[in-house]
Amino acid sequence: MCGIVGYIGPKQAAPILLDGLEKLEYRGYDSAGIAVCDGDDVTISKAVGKLANLKAKTDNGNSITGTKGIGHTRWATHGKPTENNAHPHCSERFVLVHNGIIENEEALRRKYLKNAEFYSDTDTEVIAHLLQKFTDDGESTAVAIQHMISEVEGSYALAIIDKNDPDVLYAVKNKSPLLIGSGDGFNMIGSDAMAMIAHTNNFYELNDKEYVVITKDSVDIYTCYGKKIERNTYVAELDVSDTEKGTYPHYMLKEIEEQPTVIRKILKEYSDDDGELTIDPDILKDIRSCDKIYIIACGTSYHAGIVGKQFLEKISGIPTEVCIASEFVYNMPLLSKKPLFIFISQSGETADSRAVLVKVKEMGYKTLTLTNVKGSTLSREADHTLLLYAGPEIAVASTKAYTAQVAVLAILAANIKNSININLNYELSKVSNVIESICDDKDKYSMLAEDYLKDSRNCFYIGRGIDYYVCLEAALKLKEISYIQTEGFAAGELKHGTIALIEQNTPVIAIISQENTNLNTRSNIKEVKSRGAHVMTISTKSLSAQKDQIIINDVHEILTPLVTVVPAQYLAYYAALQKGCDIDKPRNLAKSVTVE
Ligand code: G6P
Repeated sequence: MCGIVGYIGPKQAAPILLDGLEKLEYRGYDSAGIAVCDGDDVTISKAVGKLANLKAKTDNGNSITGTKGIGHTRWATHGKPTENNAHPHCSERFVLVHNGIIENEEALRRKYLKNAEFYSDTDTEVIAHLLQKFTDDGESTAVAIQHMISEVEGSYALAIIDKNDPDVLYAVKNKSPLLIGSGDGFNMIGSDAMAMIAHTNNFYELNDKEYVVITKDSVDIYTCYGKKIERNTYVAELDVSDTEKGTYPHYMLKEIEEQPTVIRKILKEYSDDDGELTIDPDILKDIRSCDKIYIIACGTSYHAGIVGKQFLEKISGIPTEVCIASEFVYNMPLLSKKPLFIFISQSGETADSRAVLVKVKEMGYKTLTLTNVKGSTLSREADHTLLLYAGPEIAVASTKAYTAQVAVLAILAANIKNSININLNYELSKVSNVIESICDDKDKYSMLAEDYLKDSRNCFYIGRGIDYYVCLEAALKLKEISYIQTEGFAAGELKHGTIALIEQNTPVIAIISQENTNLNTRSNIKEVKSRGAHVMTISTKSLSAQKDQIIINDVHEILTPLVTVVPAQYLAYYAALQKGCDIDKPRNLAKSVTVE
């Protein structure tokens, strides 16, 4: 959570910082701030709420002069979203922005900062005072940063201005993501490549507890002990246009409609010269020699994981357990003798998942990350990576990353052992065509959302087996962007308690795509209907009934999650639109959650 940027070069910094922050707003958007240096003068400007407020306050940055600066977009952890708590934070000499959480801030205050005067409720301010104290005690800025790294526990990506040194920016990271963008006569700092891609596609990766001294012409990376590190830049395969909305009113709509292209891209990227879908043999070797797979993930990625379990068990015959990362890390189940861990993460940065990765690596287990972001922390730190090729996903509510995760998991499972002889190349191509036909019907979803959801307080998605797993994702979509309280429920379990919540006109959306559970789910539909529920059914053509509201063309039965989820994404989108919600930036959420 929180996004940080920095710029040092020949141009006016503030507009560049604000553009970068716009690309990082997915990481938090309750307040924003920038600090810009013009010679010895440092101008700090902050505003509560979305970045647009800071842009308006500074005439899009044009009112602030200076060619070096740092910026921040916040997702509050310590203290309310007020201007006082917004970053940058400062002491007399240092101004800095921070992404992460300082875990031992109280101990640091007691040990070093008894005399410091704090003006905010943030943990970040502690770092500004700590650097002040260490330099007041005679340390150079570089040594003070090394000292700070040795004292501070927790996660941090920091961009730092030392008011005594007009030609330098400092950056440091531990556990939170941070990249340095390298250009001709300028350099940048950013939480991700998208924040800098309009200016450069050359980046330096940083490892934990490294710090960087940046001038407009140089980037020097050091270990926490002050030893210089030689590192080359890498070129990010990102296009500026990937990060734009184009003609779409919202990123979410664009991303929903990119799903057929994403599936085709995955097929292309995973095909060998003979057109066969393949997976790196080293990955297959490790998986084939494990006795159980543990999938670790959060949010939507967790929902993709439970669909993946079906693939890994039903297609490749490997027992698989799916665990919520934040639960697993402090309450580990009894592990099998030879486990292998698969981490699923769109961003590749989620702190809860990373905490598990660090732990299981210490235990010596093999790890594989499925991620959309090449070079992300979870990718770099796992033994293996499978990329999702979904392109940047900007809307907070995940759509195309989910379908990409499910598709890649299917390819993985069929490569381990294709015990059901599924021709995935053919079947996934069909899936992409079917998603396209679903997208052609969007007016219908808009009408259904208006009729069923717009004025509802609550809603239930029901299904069985793999349909139930899609219900969990469908419910998450609806609740996170429209704020309608929605639960995904196993259709057969409803009658064991939750059916008590069904009232006249409560919307219940049933998903039916599996032959063996079709009739049972239809009985459950009758049960809720007779208690007043307003039922909508999403079914596949071969299992459809005449009055089903949404009928989807058939795909292979095991791949139905890739298609049944799409109308649910649209329903969430339109319900949120009709309720006037902020679709791409729903309240209280952030896309990349880098705190535990
Ligand atoms: C946040 C996002 C979700 C996402 C989850 C896991 O909660 O809002 O959309 O599914 O994090 O993120 P990851 O990047 O690990 O998939």
